[in-house]
Amino acid sequence: MNQGYSYQSTLTASEGPHWRIEDIIGGKNQLNFAKPFMPESFARVEPLTFLTSDEKRVLNQIRGNAYLCIFGLVEEFILPFVLDHARSQLQGDDYRVRALLQFAGEEAKHIQLFKRFRQEFENGFGTECPVIGPPEAISSAILAHDPLAVALTTLHIEWMVQRHYVESIKDNQELDPQFKSLLKHHWVEEVQHAKLDTLMVESLAAGRSEAEIMKAVEEYIEIGGFIDGGLTQQVDLDMDSFIRATGRQLADNEKEEFRRVQLQANRWTYLGSGMTHEKVLETLGNLTPLARQRIESISPAFC
Ligand SMILES: [Fe+2]
Ligand SMILES: [Fe+2]
Repeated sequence: MNQGYSYQSTLTASEGPHWRIEDIIGGKNQLNFAKPFMPESFARVEPLTFLTSDEKRVLNQIRGNAYLCIFGLVEEFILPFVLDHARSQLQGDDYRVRALLQFAGEEAKHIQLFKRFRQEFENGFGTECPVIGPPEAISSAILAHDPLAVALTTLHIEWMVQRHYVESIKDNQELDPQFKSLLKHHWVEEVQHAKLDTLMVESLAAGRSEAEIMKAVEEYIEIGGFIDGGLTQQVDLDMDSFIRATGRQLADNEKEEFRRVQLQANRWTYLGSGMTHEKVLETLGNLTPLARQRIESISPAFC
């Protein structure tokens, strides 16, 4: 049922592609603010036809900054979650312990990378762009849920990262090469995380009845609702940042359109693209077909 993943093979695969933060950001690795950072499929700035092309690029970059900062935020709950999961079984499978600690170590590095990125972004962009938080509050709200629900959320996030990079970023030649390089370096280490999440979900679901599994699935949906509330706030923060950065005044109907388009863009970026990922659905379906059906019934609202 584990889709062919093992702690030993993910550990071996994760020992290859290491990089250091200082080698991929700073020095000659500078952001180019003349270029967009995010693929249009996530940024969705084009439907805002009342913006000029320069204004669309500025909004795209604000979304790019929020994207990496939000990954930094969610990784702050993934790190303690993985450590707790490793801590509960230190005896027995040495590969398991090492694979999970490697996972946690990489997330700690990514958190630091994204903080470093945020400084670089603010220095170059010239306007402060606030992001929802604080990380500790978001992390403790998520970690208050059933560990299986947290593991499903983590699974969703990590497959989503895979999909974003492979489908929309890797072959996109319009994006700033430095921003793209950060996404690539993040992605390359995330590949093994998504497999380890699958193994964590399976171990946390083992021995549970269908009703107990479905209760955890409902909590995963609640966590999604909590994230959705954060995204609604983020859209307003992004609109304020956009107004400050460009000096552009928006009429009431333009603000309304901005909120509508950007909320759905955020929903697709962080919720829909994870909930509809075939690997997420496959893992849910392996727990119980009801879990897959439940998520498939609500995901269109986030696409
Ligand atoms: Fe990460
Ligand atoms: Fe990860």
